[in-house]
Amino acid sequence: MIRILDILKKIALFEGLEDSDLSKVSQVTKERFCPKGTVLFKEGDIGDAFYLLKEGKVEVLKKDGDAEKVIKTLSHTDKDSFFGEMALVGGAPRNATLRTAVDSTVMVIAKGDFDMMLRLNSFIALRIMTALSSRFRAAAPETPAETKLGKLVVAFSPKSGAGKSVFAANLAAGLAKMGQAKALLVDLDLQFGDLAFMLDLHPKRTIADLVENPTDKPEVLKEYLVDHKSGFSVLAAPKKPEQSEMINSSHLRAFVELARKHFDYIILDTHSFFQDLTINAMDMADAIFLLMLPNMNHIKSMHQCLKVMENLKYPPDKIKLVLNREGAQYSRSLEEIETAMKRKADFTLKDSWKQISELIEHQKTVFEQDASCDYAAGMVRIMEFLTGKKFAKDTKKTWLGNLFGG
Ligand SMILES: Nc1ncnc2c1ncn2[C@@H]1O[C@H](COP(=O)(O)OP(=O)(O)OP(=O)(O)O)[C@@H](O)[C@H]1O
Ligand SMILES: [Mg+2]
Repeated sequence: MIRILDILKKIALFEGLEDSDLSKVSQVTKERFCPKGTVLFKEGDIGDAFYLLKEGKVEVLKKDGDAEKVIKTLSHTDKDSFFGEMALVGGAPRNATLRTAVDSTVMVIAKGDFDMMLRLNSFIALRIMTALSSRFRAAAPETPAETKLGKLVVAFSPKSGAGKSVFAANLAAGLAKMGQAKALLVDLDLQFGDLAFMLDLHPKRTIADLVENPTDKPEVLKEYLVDHKSGFSVLAAPKKPEQSEMINSSHLRAFVELARKHFDYIILDTHSFFQDLTINAMDMADAIFLLMLPNMNHIKSMHQCLKVMENLKYPPDKIKLVLNREGAQYSRSLEEIETAMKRKADFTLKDSWKQISELIEHQKTVFEQDASCDYAAGMVRIMEFLTGKKFAKDTKKTWLGNLFGG
């Protein structure tokens, strides 16, 4: 077992892991005896396992016309005698065939077992994603300046009920209505997301249908969206919680890449859990809005959450702390919170029970009902930050006039 830990430690995919994490990885590692001539995988197969040579020799073969040619032979004493680590996170096609050259013993981590282990150990997932995302960041080509790309905005909170969904829905509505922007709201609360219901929408298709039929065509993407009367589009959460398992981070990345070319803003509502999908979303985001309520539980969790953001090495500018429900009865004051957090809140949203309950009860955003309420005023400041435009004062008169026909 000691040797396996030592070997796992050297694998780039696991470089961010601690010993206790590695021993969990080793628990899903299975030993397999493979007689001489066993084909472990074939070139072109979609990778579904990671292999580590414990004893023996393997041949790496590549297609050469109709035949296959051995391009190298590796023995268990070679330092690169492991294969296909990225199959555990990506599922990309194998770029060569692997065959045992003598009777050998291999250690195998099957993607299914690895995924299950990650689901039970979200912090291992977090550490792997952190290491991976810094590698991607280092390798990512610069986007050409002339390519117009929509901004990706993520709403997240470490505690549930902080107001992410209300925030995301109103932000999309405000950007569409006041900002005249093309906004797309995506419900990434995959098991129990209720944005469509909250907005009185009845989507025929959801994100689960989209990942079943991936596309790179904007007109096809549109078929999976549902339009809100305020002028923004919504990609709804799956209809059944069990469908949430269908959506992985590669789907998310592909879908966001396409959506960025056709929308000015893509707003992702999430659930309060660090996992592969949420971290991928945050990684790609231009801005992450971290929402919290003015009470001790939220202060404590947000403190921990900000530490994780620091470990993820996001530029501090990308993270915006939003104190929601400021001024609610029995709540902590803004000053108390900022002192406890040793950090300023970037934005505050007032407690607006009456207006917000309208959204929950009557399925209307604040921009459709009381656009002059305190909550809307807070949203306007956030929209001004995102768009770089000014909506307050003079413009407010005009759009209020437009809204109410005055
Ligand atoms: N500024 C506010 N003023 C008053 N009530 C609010 C405000 N923001 C949110 N709420 C209330 O808080 C409740 C939770 O909001 P919301 O569903 O947006 O939270 P969430 O973070 O998405 O929760 P979950 O983690 O369960 O998805 C809602 O019922 C809403 O009525
Ligand atoms: Mg929610």
